[in-house]
Amino acid sequence: MASGTRKIVEVLNGKAVSPPPIWLMRQAGRYLPEYRETRAKAGSFLDLCYSPEHAVEVTLQPIRRYGFDAAILFSDILVIPDALKRQVRFDEGHGPRMQPLSVDEIPALAPMPVLGHLEPVLETVRRLRAELPHETTLLGFCGAPWTVATYMIAGQGTPDQAPTRLFAYKEPRAFSQLLDILAEKSADYLVAQIDAGADAVQIFDSWAGVLGEKEFADYAVKPVRRIVDLVKARRPQAKIIAFAKGAGLFLKDYRQGTGADAIGLDWTVPLSLAAELQKDGPVQGNLDPQRVVAGGNALRDGIDAILDALGNGPLIFNLGHGITPQADPVNVAALVERVRGGAR
Ligand code: CP3
Repeated sequence: MASGTRKIVEVLNGKAVSPPPIWLMRQAGRYLPEYRETRAKAGSFLDLCYSPEHAVEVTLQPIRRYGFDAAILFSDILVIPDALKRQVRFDEGHGPRMQPLSVDEIPALAPMPVLGHLEPVLETVRRLRAELPHETTLLGFCGAPWTVATYMIAGQGTPDQAPTRLFAYKEPRAFSQLLDILAEKSADYLVAQIDAGADAVQIFDSWAGVLGEKEFADYAVKPVRRIVDLVKARRPQAKIIAFAKGAGLFLKDYRQGTGADAIGLDWTVPLSLAAELQKDGPVQGNLDPQRVVAGGNALRDGIDAILDALGNGPLIFNLGHGITPQADPVNVAALVERVRGGAR
């Protein structure tokens, strides 16, 4: 089978595939007992990301259990700041931490290469392509510059990204330079993932939803456009999914503005808007992850509404954000079965 016939690649080429292919954001994660076991063996979370042996294992775990149509490389969006020597750490119960980035430190980031530091991640991609079933799409990914910058400026996760919104208003030139640097490093990284065997890549802009209109254009659309242009100039066949969580009505111009092949939708996007967006190309999403925790009717109704609204067009079935540690693996099996038509 040629790689062009992998179902998710077909959808990314604009084809409606029935039943729609499915994968879940954060499908390798703490809801799976086998993930928790490997995670304990690997040591810290970043040790897991930089160990090809363990990262391959956790990437394959959800594929073995559920036969998802895509495997997503196990890593994190914050390996880019880590490669830029921001010394990222994940403190148990606190999420990511690093030294907050100051204005004066930004220019020194520009000449820093990232691919040497990320070689173990690229080795994970090569091993995955060799070990995955042929029909399984392999997805690479990176964070969008805005979302990655929010962690670099604040030095940690914050509820509304206030420190970075403030920084961008006070230091607009330095902030734009930071986004440019992140876009260029991310493009290098995505091209390297594609060369290592990724069939397509996703750009995660998890915090796009806190931006006003002009800021969305400057900080969410423009840097992602830069990544898409740089990647496609070097690898014209590359397929790119862009996921801007919380983007709401800005999604109307997001595909065209970024040049992405497919757009990811969070669970707050009305299905009527999703159907409009699907007329211009493939969409991915958008089941509320809490429906997977709830199970039962909440899960079934959510799935059916998406299939009824979007099932006849180019759709990659997914959640509207990452699966949570509280999700019951049994509900995930029921989800996959229903999407594939077994129980509808
Ligand atoms: O989807 C997958 O299965 C692939 C792996 C993946 C992870 N993080 C593993 C992970 C991907 C694609 C990401 C992306 C990521 N990382 C995003 C964008 C997507 C999103 O969820 O919004 C963001 C914002 C991050 C940054 C990050 N990483 C945070 C804020 C945290 C802590 C919060 C949490 O969920 O614990 C992480 C840690 C992280 N990344 C875990 C996993 C499985 C949990 C860490 C653990 O096992 O201890």
